[in-house]
Amino acid sequence: MQIKTLPEFDAPAGGQLTDNMLAAFNEAGVIILKGWASEEACDRLRARAGELVDAFDPTEVRHVFSTLTQEQIDDSYFNESGDKIRFFLEDDAFGADGELRASKENSLNKMGHAMHDLDPEFDAFSHTQELAEAARRLGLNDPGVIQSMYIFKPPHIGGEVICHQDSTFIYTEPETCIGFWFALEDATLENGCMHFIPGLHKEPLRQRHYRQDDGTFKTVTLVDEPWPEERKVPAPAQKGDLVIFDGRTPHLSSANHSDKSRHAYTLHAIDRSAHYPAENWLHRSLDMPLRGFAP
Ligand code: FE2
Repeated sequence: MQIKTLPEFDAPAGGQLTDNMLAAFNEAGVIILKGWASEEACDRLRARAGELVDAFDPTEVRHVFSTLTQEQIDDSYFNESGDKIRFFLEDDAFGADGELRASKENSLNKMGHAMHDLDPEFDAFSHTQELAEAARRLGLNDPGVIQSMYIFKPPHIGGEVICHQDSTFIYTEPETCIGFWFALEDATLENGCMHFIPGLHKEPLRQRHYRQDDGTFKTVTLVDEPWPEERKVPAPAQKGDLVIFDGRTPHLSSANHSDKSRHAYTLHAIDRSAHYPAENWLHRSLDMPLRGFAP
């Protein structure tokens, strides 16, 4: 049966997802929890992101993350970002004169991938008893928060993200990836909110993304079929809402043609008991062991 609206609930106290919420998650592969994070918590994270952006010098790092090809012009900067805080600009960030066309913050695609381990403010947002409890109820018995991303989706140039499954990039055996997406600003149809194809998490993983020995990446298609994008359902979210989705649930977002940014923060968790292949793109230094959600 086709799912026409995404399951939505008020955020449960203490992260104690109810049986209803878990059933909805298992059915749709995605749930929206309204009002998970407070306005103040969102504002603190935004302010801290702003400070990190202020300290970033884009003239030294002109690395562009293509949201259409999911590829990096120069792989190494991205390649080594699994245990660092790095900045990735939008495709259209630079004008013909080689200068940024907008402010730094309004030129960035994202920041990643280890703020949750390296920055105290991001650490505090990412490690809470509520998240630990939610993860436990979602079946992650021994969660490891493998990556964090701060998504800027800036006005006018925030790029499209084509339909994909996150387990393509964060693959474990068995598959255990779960995404936690926090709206730090209202995400609307106008500024490029997420869309999901609910229910398709019950179908196989369609692609795997590999790191090759020479440091380049390769994506292998396992199921060569177009996504049924006519079944996509928008996931508009208000500031503070949390969207949780299975690593196999296909999702996408359109470009942001509006004059409002769409800042969001994401965490991805895996179960540490699952096998994490060395050929996954994301590597972490051995002196940064994976932590769970607990503070
Ligand atoms: Fe994704």
